[in-house]
Amino acid sequence: MAMRTHTCGDLRLNDKDQTATLCGWVNTFRDQGRGLVFIDLRDRKGLTQIVFDQEDCDSAVMDLARSLRREDVVAVTGVVETRAGGANQKLPTGEIEIRGTSLKVFSRASNPPILPDDHDADRISEEVRLRHRYIDLRRPTMQQALQVRHDLAALARDYFHNMGFLEVETPLLIKSTPEGARDFVVPSRIYPGKWYALPQSPQIFKQILMIAGCDRYMQICKCLRDEDPRADRQAEFTQIDLEMSFVDRDEVLRIMTGFIRRVFKHIVGVDLGQIPQMPWQEAIDVWGSDRPDLRIDLPLQDVTDIAAKTDFKVFQEALKKDKGVVKAIRIPDSSKELTRKMLDALQETAKLHGAGGMPWTKVTENGLEGGIAKFLGSVEEDFCAELGAEPGDTILMSCDRWLTACESLGQVRLHVANVLNRIDTSLWRALWVVDFPMFRWSDTKDRWLAEHHPFTAPNEECLEMLESDPGSVVSAGYDMVLNGSEIGGGSLRIHDPEIQDRVFKILGLTEDEMRVKFGFLLDALKQGAPPHGGVAFGFDRLVMLLTGTDNIRDVIAFPKTQNGSDLMTEAPGPIDQEQLEELQITVETADESD
Ligand code: AMO
Repeated sequence: MAMRTHTCGDLRLNDKDQTATLCGWVNTFRDQGRGLVFIDLRDRKGLTQIVFDQEDCDSAVMDLARSLRREDVVAVTGVVETRAGGANQKLPTGEIEIRGTSLKVFSRASNPPILPDDHDADRISEEVRLRHRYIDLRRPTMQQALQVRHDLAALARDYFHNMGFLEVETPLLIKSTPEGARDFVVPSRIYPGKWYALPQSPQIFKQILMIAGCDRYMQICKCLRDEDPRADRQAEFTQIDLEMSFVDRDEVLRIMTGFIRRVFKHIVGVDLGQIPQMPWQEAIDVWGSDRPDLRIDLPLQDVTDIAAKTDFKVFQEALKKDKGVVKAIRIPDSSKELTRKMLDALQETAKLHGAGGMPWTKVTENGLEGGIAKFLGSVEEDFCAELGAEPGDTILMSCDRWLTACESLGQVRLHVANVLNRIDTSLWRALWVVDFPMFRWSDTKDRWLAEHHPFTAPNEECLEMLESDPGSVVSAGYDMVLNGSEIGGGSLRIHDPEIQDRVFKILGLTEDEMRVKFGFLLDALKQGAPPHGGVAFGFDRLVMLLTGTDNIRDVIAFPKTQNGSDLMTEAPGPIDQEQLEELQITVETADESD
């Protein structure tokens, strides 16, 4: 016979008079005296109220029931009855209770350090929750997150299976594939002194699968990047990784749009509608970000021409720079709300993102006042007309090279929208950002870097200027953005070995480095490579949006902390001397006195 007849979420009024056996954890326990003990029994599926009444059961069962404590694991058998104390409308099982007649205790919980209570979770430090994850994961919210992960994975497999994608596993022990982050590395025992890298993504393998004739590939895979975890970033995360042969950009975007629309429709009942495309140039220029949050209706406006007419030194200096601009955002009806302290905090945000500062002023019935108002005197009328400024508005500005000015003001835009509650959280605004630049100049590295990755194809019409003007080359890369979160990215790929070779050279690779790092790819590209392209969706980021959390650790069963450690297992930890010797690795510990 099965150990239980129902889960704790199953029973309803039409099960009345049935005998049922439920198993689960004691969620709450109340000894009412008067010969009555109530427990709420919990499992993944829900809660059911159990009553032990001395009228119904023998004294051994009553004694055992009285000994129960929260989180003990038990089996209860009894008859389903209408809830005597009135229905609990909040619970799906709220109209019934089980009159317990037998009770078995499987195991006891000794003084749980935390309780799996959603109300308590906010009060308990995340550190304690992570250390005792086996209890924390019992919380309904965490169970819900795991369910959404499951639903998303099932839906992805179903959708892409129907589209003819083939699920293929790619290896975890590989040669380094650069995606711009640091590799995690694994020493080889068989080849002492040599190292595997863990994949930052299966990028090269999925391209090789296209060369190998797989046509359409999908995988739900782990990616590992040795970078500092953040609220929306883990060193170990999951992607829905996809690649297709014989496609152009529109076809890739059509299929991927269909997938994301289906995900939101099925899991949260939201129709994202058609997903528009926005050129990168516009995203930066108008929204100050390559992942614009379009729920915030505060566009950046260009006031360069008007600012050029002032004597304000800060503007004049900025405009001397290459592609120097002055950008502004008008925050309607905010002059009272935006205190001096808030403006100072916004200045800090601007500085953190590369700007020298954040000139500001306020619009009153008598014209501009405060901040840099006095420097705008001569152009005040034009300035206000250009921005459509009204009394009560605050104007926040940036002046620098175009990209820095836009991006720093873009960050200020996010910050101010947050502090003033100007984000309409009922909205879902998705878009594809397209036409990215192919390369980004790095002052620190003194060379061009790939904006996406080195395998992204340049747009055909840009091929001629690949070497002569790399900064102007537009790529066939695209990112999907939803409510300001980058949920996926990809591109059409280079399938011509000669173009791949040229791109590697622009990225500063010598012939030797190319051979050592990517010889196998260049060889493969010479053996009949179809035109191909793909995307990887951030699985965890999607689940964050679907469950409405801004903490990635809330959607991963066993995440790492901000410092990259697993508090439950205490990884990373030391390994045995014997293991080190086998790997021929010597660890030099820093001198304590250093
Ligand atoms: P990319 O690096 O843009 O592209 O990653 C794709 C998507 O994965 C998610 N993501 C992350 N999620 C959590 N933690 C992280 N550290 C993290 N890094 C990325 C984001 C992102 O949009 N190989 C390419 C894809 C391709 O070209 O097909 C790649 O990995 O949602």
